[in-house]
Amino acid sequence: MLNFTLKIWRQPQSEQPGQFITYPMHGVSPGWSLLEMLDELNEKLMQAGQEPVVFDSDCREGICGSCGLLVNGIPHGQVGVTTCQVYLRRFQNGQTLTLEPLPGFPVVRDLMVDRSAFDRIMAQGGYISVNVGSAPEANTIPIPPKTATQAFDAATCIGCGACVAACPNGSAALFVGAKITHLSLLPQGQPEAGQRVRAMTAQMDAEGLGHCSNHGECAAICPQNIPLTVIARLRRQYWQSWW
Ligand code: FES
Repeated sequence: MLNFTLKIWRQPQSEQPGQFITYPMHGVSPGWSLLEMLDELNEKLMQAGQEPVVFDSDCREGICGSCGLLVNGIPHGQVGVTTCQVYLRRFQNGQTLTLEPLPGFPVVRDLMVDRSAFDRIMAQGGYISVNVGSAPEANTIPIPPKTATQAFDAATCIGCGACVAACPNGSAALFVGAKITHLSLLPQGQPEAGQRVRAMTAQMDAEGLGHCSNHGECAAICPQNIPLTVIARLRRQYWQSWW
């Protein structure tokens, strides 16, 4: 069994100041996930009549992207996985774990942040609205396997926000690039490609998210391994959309 010292950011509301509170955790299983340790802490806090720590999670299988916090300064706490897939055995017994909300997004409460900026960006063009008719027989639309693979790889973006949190500029270029790539590489998404890239980029700017300056931190931390090439495609499509 393991012991940890948790330093957790507690903030009652977005407009109120927050602070780190220290909680000792004794005798936790190495097989628990980080979020299961927070569940255990919350049980103890509620039994003591205190407010539980607020954090986001849903599927707890690395699929939905709703979990996300900073663990010792690293988005999700580990490269290549979501917070719900981080297990305590990867930390050292006796280690101090500092848990903070993901930077780049407004804090709602404690470790929960507001990622609705991503929803507003998606509402500007993260879909196909042209009438493509009923589903055709798959082989009647020939798509090279490499193109299909690139589109499907980009479609695995779960919108967790780790890219924004890791970027020194707070840029969402990897997220937007993934959506642009996934939609525009396939025939059904091409008629609206120019309009889509301009509208989604404009909304990204309106949300106050930063610009990409090729640091590459976003792709390095992305739990879905979305490559930096999606940002290159985003830029290329953006400029082509004005010609
Ligand atoms: S809770 Fe769904 S990805 Fe972590």
